[in-house]
Amino acid sequence: MEFVDALNARHSVRAFRDRPVPGPVLERLLARGATSPSWSNTQPYQIAVATGPVLEALRDDLSRRFERLAPLQRAPAWKKALAALRRDPGLPDGDFRPVQRYPDDLQPRRVATGRGLYRMLGIGRDDHRARHQQMAANFRFFGAPAALFLFVHRGLGVYSVLDAGIFLQTLMLAAVDEGLGSCAQGALGLWRSPLERHFEIPADYQLLCGLSLGYPDTDATVNRFHPDKLPADALTLARR
Ligand SMILES: Cc1cc2nc3c(=O)[nH]c(=O)nc-3n(C[C@H](O)[C@H](O)[C@H](O)COP(=O)(O)O)c2cc1C
Repeated sequence: MEFVDALNARHSVRAFRDRPVPGPVLERLLARGATSPSWSNTQPYQIAVATGPVLEALRDDLSRRFERLAPLQRAPAWKKALAALRRDPGLPDGDFRPVQRYPDDLQPRRVATGRGLYRMLGIGRDDHRARHQQMAANFRFFGAPAALFLFVHRGLGVYSVLDAGIFLQTLMLAAVDEGLGSCAQGALGLWRSPLERHFEIPADYQLLCGLSLGYPDTDATVNRFHPDKLPADALTLARR
């Protein structure tokens, strides 16, 4: 595939076909990701690859946790405190705190993207149930047959995160070249403990995010969503 075609074809896929990703394809994707540049070539990331029974166990575990978390998010402070005391499995135990409040200049972009997605799906502003279902789909990996989880070395701080981002984009583009689709997911960074059950995770590595991966369901409405991007000049600083 032409590089520019792969760039243009990549978008977040949120519905997948029920078709496994063959092992050699997954290995090829990881090998392509491994060509990425990184800080002093330290390659400060580790990847957990979940397929088959491990993926199913995670799908189950994360979905159950999300169903506990959702009502807690709306609960009064005392209920949250009680849940913390009881170590409620719905409370996130991820390594990074989710963003609570978006900066004023970024919030409108976030809102526009969210609105665009819900509009495409025909989900109304007050349809809390449908919104919940869409959020919950994150934890079922949108039906994908494979999921990756990215861990970054805490010792390099933001540079590990930067490197992991480069790795992720390389892998996502390589996926397009293989006819696969993907969705990077911060949501999959909410809980670390379910992953501890299935993978040997070094203590120095922090869970950053996940990625659902598989063959896109081309009939799914959600996959027609292509949010607008800023023109490059909006990202370029004016000269003094
Ligand atoms: C680090 C990262 C985390 C993301 N987390 C989520 C997520 O949790 N759930 C989701 O549906 N999309 C998630 N996305 C996808 C973004 O919403 C998407 O990239 C953005 O809207 C632009 O759309 P595009 O990928 O189709 O170009 C994430 C993307 C990135 C890069």
